[in-house]
Parts: sequence; C-alpha cells; structure tokens
Amino acid sequence: MTESQTIQSSMVETRKFPPPARFASQAHINSPAEYQRMHRLSIDDPEGYWRETAKSFVWFEPFTRVLKWDPPHAQWFVGGKTNVAYNCLDVQIDRGHGERTAITWEGEPGDGVTLTYRQLRDRVGQCANALKSLGVKKGDIVTLYMPMVPELMIAMLACARIGAPHSIIFGGFSATAIADRVNDAKSRIIVTADGGWRRGSVVPLKQNVDEAVKSCPTVQHVLVLKRCENEIAWTSGRDHWWHELVDSQPAACPPERCDSEDLLFILYTSGTTGKPKGIMHTTGGYMVYTAHSAKYIFDLKPDDVYWCTADIGWVTGHSYITYGPLQNGVNVFMYEGAPNHPDWGRFWDIVQRHRVTIFYTAPTAIRSFMRQGDAIPAKYDMSSLRLLGSVGEPINPEAWMWYHTRIGGERCPIVDTWWQTETGGAMISPLPGCTTLKPGCATKPFFGVDVAVVDQSGKEQPANTGGFLVIRKPWPAMLRGIYGDMERYRNQYWTQVPGFYFTADACRRDEDGNFWLMGRVDDVINISGHRIGTAEVESALVSHPAVAEAAVVGVPHEIKGQALAAFVALKRGQTASDDLKKALLDHVTKEIGAIARPEQIRFSEALPKTRSGKIMRRLLKELASTGEVKGDTTTLEDFGVIASLRESDEG
Ligand code: WTA
Repeated sequence: MTESQTIQSSMVETRKFPPPARFASQAHINSPAEYQRMHRLSIDDPEGYWRETAKSFVWFEPFTRVLKWDPPHAQWFVGGKTNVAYNCLDVQIDRGHGERTAITWEGEPGDGVTLTYRQLRDRVGQCANALKSLGVKKGDIVTLYMPMVPELMIAMLACARIGAPHSIIFGGFSATAIADRVNDAKSRIIVTADGGWRRGSVVPLKQNVDEAVKSCPTVQHVLVLKRCENEIAWTSGRDHWWHELVDSQPAACPPERCDSEDLLFILYTSGTTGKPKGIMHTTGGYMVYTAHSAKYIFDLKPDDVYWCTADIGWVTGHSYITYGPLQNGVNVFMYEGAPNHPDWGRFWDIVQRHRVTIFYTAPTAIRSFMRQGDAIPAKYDMSSLRLLGSVGEPINPEAWMWYHTRIGGERCPIVDTWWQTETGGAMISPLPGCTTLKPGCATKPFFGVDVAVVDQSGKEQPANTGGFLVIRKPWPAMLRGIYGDMERYRNQYWTQVPGFYFTADACRRDEDGNFWLMGRVDDVINISGHRIGTAEVESALVSHPAVAEAAVVGVPHEIKGQALAAFVALKRGQTASDDLKKALLDHVTKEIGAIARPEQIRFSEALPKTRSGKIMRRLLKELASTGEVKGDTTTLEDFGVIASLRESDEG
C-alpha cells in the first residue's frame, strides 16, 4: 500500500475491562490461556477441531470427510446426513428436556405465549405436515413474510424439518421488495399473517403480499396466520388460513434426512448494485457453527432467559434467535413490537418481568435509548441480566460505556460480535469469561476463524495500521454462494484480495491482537491523502454530551479531494445552535485532529436508517453533495427523515 492507500486510524481508547470474577467463575471458558489453546488448535488443525466439535450433534449418517475446499467452493461434513430442526428440538426432548421452555413470546399489545421444547416440536410437525399438504417438497423454497410471532419460528423450523429451504423477508419490506425476492427464488408458497403490531398500528402484511403476488407468476399458495384480525382480501383456492390448515394436522412428522450440503435457507441482503443478493447457507456446517458459537459467545446455560432483539428476518435472528440458541436448549425470549411502545421503558420492563439473563441488541438501539436519558432504565430492576451483546455496526465507546453502566449495572460483560449475513455466525467476539474488553472493540477471532488485516495485495498490515479485514480459511457457516449467480459470488467476495474472503470492512489490529472495526470500506474517505474511517469521526461526535447519533460522509472538495459532512441528531433537551456547531468541530479536532474536522455539520431530528437499523450513509452522501436524494430508497425505514434533512440544509 502506498501512503495514500493505508487507512489512518486515530482512535485512542485505553479503558480495559477484564471479566468480572463472578462471571468468569461459572463460564464455559474462563482463562485466556484456555482460549488461546483452543484457538491455536482450531487454526493449526481445523479439520480435527471441527470433527471433534461435530461429534456432539446427531447425524443420521456420519460424514466421511470434514472439509472439501475447492476455492471458493467449500463443502463441510461431506456425506453427512442430518436435520437442523431435529437437532434444535427432538435432541432436547431425547435428552429429557422436553418440558423446558423453548420460547417465551410477548406480543406488542401485551399478550403472550410460552412453548416447551415438546410443544414447539409438535407445532413444527403440524406446520410441516401442512406445508406438505400444499405440495411442498424437499428443495422447494418457501417464502416467509411474517411478524415476530412464534409461528414465524415454527414455520422456519417446519421448512428445515422437511428440507425445504426458507427465504425469510423482513416484515417491514414493501410489496416490490417481496416480489423481487419471491421471483428470484421462484417460490410457489408464501407464509404470512393478516398483519403484525408495530407502535400500536397494524402492519398490513397480507395486503403487501397480495400486491406483490400480482407480479409473481410462480406463487400458488398463501398460508395466512390470523394475528391482528384486520380486514383482508381473500383469493379462494390460493389463500389458506393457518388455523384451519395447520391446527388440524398430526404433530408427527419424520425429519427429512438432509445432506450436509443441502440448502437450509437463502437470505437476501442488499448489494452495491441494488439487486438483492440471495445468500445461501447449507445444513451441516451452519448447524454446527451456530450452535458452537452461541454456546461460547453467549456462555449459554440451561437456565438462561436469552433475548436477542433482532427480527428473525435478519441473519442475527436466524442464527442467534432460532438455530444457535435452540440447539443449546435455552429459553428464547421473543418480542413482537417496537422498543418505544407504549414508552421507552418497554424493553427494560420486559427484562424485569421475564427475568432476562442475556440481552443482545444493536448499537443503533443503544444510542436511541441513550438519547431518552438515564432516568428510564433506572426505574427497572435489571439485576437478572448477566451478559450483554451488540451487533450490526461498530459500537462507539460512549454507547458501550452507557450500555455497560446503565443497562449492565457495571457487572455484565459485553460481547461485541462482528459478523455478516455471509459469515452465518459471529466471527470476531469476546468470550465473556476470559476476554479483557475494550469499549468499542470486537476483540478476538472465534474458534476456527483465521482473520487478518491486509493491504490490497494480501500482505498483513502492522499493528495499529488500518486495512481490509479478510478471512484466510474457510469456516463451516460460510456462505456457499449467491442464489442463481455464482459469478457474482466469486467476484464480490474472492477476487478483491486474491485467495482470501473479502469482508469489505476496514479494520485495524492493535498491539494486543484485538480487532477494531472501522466501518465499511466504502465509508473510508480520502482527505488530502489521508484515509479516514467515518466510524471514528462519528464516534468522536457521539462522545460529546449533546450528541445522540452522528453519521459522517464524504463529499467532493476542490482542494482536499474529499471533505467530511456530518449529520448530527441531538439528545433530548439539547438545541441546535451555531455555538454548538463550533463546540462540536472543536471537539472532533481535540479527539482526532484537524484532519477529521467536518466541513459541514447539519442538525436533524433523526438519521435515515435501513429497516435493520444501519444508517444509510449513501443517501446522506447524495444529499450532502447534490442537495437531493434520487437513489434507491427501498430499504429506508422512514421517508419523513429525508424530507426534514433536506430542510435542515446548511443555511
Ligand atoms: C457491520 C449483521 C462492527 C459490518 C450480523 C458488517 C459490525 C456488516 C459489527 C454486516 C460489529 C456487524 N462491529 N461492525 N460488531 N457487526 N457489523 O450482513 O460492516 O446485516 O460487514 O450482518 O455489519 O451486516 P449484516
């Protein structure tokens, strides 16, 4: 890398938090030496490591080979036959845990359901039989577009049980987004609901499906769960009520003997070109990796009440609401609605009432809670919590500290888990009983994960120098391709840095071997020849007491090449002013240096986010450089935000 190609890192964070003795004493792994020993083993002899690990799963037929690696195509546990739903449910029952709670669910209006492992298995069997009665066969892709209700988990496990890959579309997506995905997957069946509750209103899911299906010639059946009892249109012959079709089915449904490399699901994620990519995950490797990583990263124990606030429509919900936690036999808590309904105390009220022990959420949520002030969480008894988690974006140190003190009562370790839809499971994360935490840092690679920070040619960067994060060895939960487009799979992930999987994230490794994520490579900005990661500037802005959230983007600049434009949302009770603007600029200069001083600062009520909570920097960039937003906005959560940002124009 020439000087202008390295990514400059200016973040200095020196606080350290070793694992609390009380946590460590009961943890699966509680000494750094043990982590190092296992990690070394898993890297030196990956096949041996995964062969041993895979032994604790039920295989109907054993695999004959651990890994077949024909870059960029991997096969794991070759020749093995198994069933992931069977490993989630029947295995728990066979171990004598059938009467333990599998799901505790709370609807937004306050209604609730609990299901034991045995009850969940029976419901899954009924749903699987219903799908079969509609002609679904092994290999058929079933689209699910549902609210966060137990039936979503039941339907996904039913698909897994009969070997029909699921394609789950997040319930916030529009009819067009549904149609694109259904057509790409050529689904013949969609499972949905009349509606779902969100902030006291009904999201019209069935109506969106009706609209989408007009342009989906492959769809023959729509299975509809009655959730909100809202008025819906009905196409007889095509539409079927869940309570009529599923509830009358027998519970027994023998699990399909799936090949280790049979498709388990596809999950669409947005790509740079706008055409969504159907990321493919298969059976054996995904099963083993999600269970194994969930066990160690969340330190799961049978008594845990584990709550991941993601929607099952995202990969986090696939891997760490359904497949990972259930294989560990814990009580999985699920909530249907919004965090601020009826008020911003809802999550903490849930933690208090359900005695949640492990809580896993996203930095965007944490910053929204911070913005509402400390008094709200302080009203609740959250002493049941023992572990916190974060995923989805770099968590800035200030948000980390707030989470640690206000939610975790300074007693809970935080696992900041770095991963992607493509990786299938968490790849870089603390192990809470042995890793010394640094606020804002995802710390160390998980077992079997060989990550490195390199330059364009694949050469490893020295400590504390930014570069590209790559993965050097295949891992069991890795994506097997992009559905219908293997060329794009190769180009997108395996050609940027020859020989390695390209994550498209910028990163640095510190002197202790900890990995610090610096945002997407596209979010790295070149100012006067210095490449600055926007995540660091955002972090500096958020460390100012008046700021709740910040997004920083690059805009063209005559002299510097690029300059920074910052969009800032203030905390409650703070008002925008020129003085504050100046104070923020000085603050960034002090925290990072004059090089990172934004050219513009705009205040706004809120920032444009994707429906999974990531800030849409692309739109902000467009707005800051052209004054308009014309690009693709299908994943935008709230259009009002763009309108108000336009008004907040630099005066
Ligand atoms: C970002 C979500 C920093 C990263 C599981 C990655 C993170 C993208 C973290 C994948 C983290 C996720 N620290 N950045 N702990 N977790 N990211 O596919 O840029 O929705 O490439 O998967 O989110 O997002 P995806």
